Amino acid sequence: MIDLERQLTSTHEKLMRMSVRPGEGWTMYGLIRMMRPQTVVEIGRLEGISSEWILNALEANGKGHLHSIDIKTRQESIPRLAAWVNKGAATIHEFDSHGPKAAELAGKLGTVDFLFVDGCHTPEAVEADCRLWLPRVKGYVLFHDWAFEGVRVGIRRAVPMEKFPRYVASYEHMVAGEVHTHGHGLMLLHLPDGLRSMPIEPPGRPG
Ligand SMILES: C[S@@+](CC[C@H](N)C(=O)[O-])C[C@H]1O[C@@H](n2cnc3c(N)ncnc32)[C@H](O)[C@@H]1O
Repeated sequence: MIDLERQLTSTHEKLMRMSVRPGEGWTMYGLIRMMRPQTVVEIGRLEGISSEWILNALEANGKGHLHSIDIKTRQESIPRLAAWVNKGAATIHEFDSHGPKAAELAGKLGTVDFLFVDGCHTPEAVEADCRLWLPRVKGYVLFHDWAFEGVRVGIRRAVPMEKFPRYVASYEHMVAGEVHTHGHGLMLLHLPDGLRSMPIEPPGRPG
């Protein structure tokens, strides 16, 4: 188990600070082990560290497939994820997570059991990710960098959270002595039946 943690860290100090930390990785791993999702979508893969936490959990479950989306593929992620792609556990997508190609993928997948959101952290981008992807989810949505104002604002613009308090749990993993300049924190939203019951407005609403 400790080996997994050692393996899922980066040698790049700057990239490392943008990735899920080991404590957050273990939380993701545990959630996926418990929830046993079939279709998992990740928005924002960077070096592939969060992707590998997810993939290790899916492998331990013996089921599930990861669709990983990033607007650009970082060189470091290629060797990290190649073996997973070759064995059919993951599909790598390179496009805007809320653009037309993402909409096409969302349509093809139909239902997403577990969505991990860690892409662009502006309120506009987070809102657009929510509006495109949350209606597809029948299961769980996990946001990284919940401590970022942009992420919180973006989610609140798209999701009427106050109407669904029991579906929300958040968690901030603090490491003593570490300065969190690149954000941290996980927020879990439980959508057992998608957004069907949520009065969410479709993309492109006026005003
Ligand atoms: C914080 S990093 C992701 C870290 C990764 N989840 C991890 O824990 O190792 C954010 C990533 O989102 C990607 N990104 C930014 N804007 C995006 C967009 N519009 N669509 C898809 N990916 C985007 C960036 O290229 C970057 O790799």
